[in-house]
Amino acid sequence: MTGKLFQKPAELVLAVSKGRIFKQVLPLLESAGISILEDPEESRKLVLATSMESLKLLIIRPSDVPTFVEYGAADLGITGKDVLLEYDSDDYYELLDLGIAKCSLMVAGMPGTTISKNRLKIATKYSRVATDYFASLGIQAELIKLYGSMELAPSVGLADFIVDLVDTGDTLKANGLVPLNTICEISSRLIVNKATMKTKNSKVKNLIQMLRDAKLASDKYG
Ligand code: ATP
Ligand code: PRP
Repeated sequence: MTGKLFQKPAELVLAVSKGRIFKQVLPLLESAGISILEDPEESRKLVLATSMESLKLLIIRPSDVPTFVEYGAADLGITGKDVLLEYDSDDYYELLDLGIAKCSLMVAGMPGTTISKNRLKIATKYSRVATDYFASLGIQAELIKLYGSMELAPSVGLADFIVDLVDTGDTLKANGLVPLNTICEISSRLIVNKATMKTKNSKVKNLIQMLRDAKLASDKYG
């Protein structure tokens, strides 16, 4: 493996999705007794030291987390199940549902529209999931790949429906759309590199237990 400038054999490197997930991972880490030594809001650093001497965090885009973990550039990663479903490989182990950044992957459209068997245009950033989902319904779907603002697509005539994440439903509502079908429920998952699971087994198990306990405490006490 190449270029492991800071990854020592005795160390665990955890790649965490920046943005929404990072904000929700922080309290979980704190409750597991792990604090971050620099203020992530202030620092421009992408590698952060923690109070657990053997644990470093990489702060990266959600969609890059499985790549870092698969290639062993990070031992572990935390990202959304939506990202994992879309990632075209399962060359990692999924260890734990952290129960954070919860939402649903849904089909949405204009009010009064129904999903028919006709050829449909679907705007989404989740091409793989959407293709599989419509194929499972026996519907031929033309996928239009977008990287954001999916909710615009039906009203401007770009697509019949969208496949996107829905939480409160506010974004759909604000753009004149309604939720139609739920494809699956989403939350953030802890994943691990397959080799790390063998070579740093006790360290990984220890971290999983700490996060599992922190999750149980947060489920119990909020
Ligand atoms: P990228 O920078 O790769 O485009 P992004 O802008 O989609 O990522 P976020 O908006 O921070 O990044 O979302 C990251 C993850 O958080 C998603 O992959 C999903 O698992 C979860 N998520 C996204 N939107 C919501 C939401 N409205 N409610 C709860 N969780 C969400
Ligand atoms: C996500 C998602 C939806 C919105 C759904 O977008 O892509 O647009 O949240 O949440 P709601 O049902 O609570 O309104 P996000 O806010 O992450 O913006 P982005 O996709 O532009 O990053």
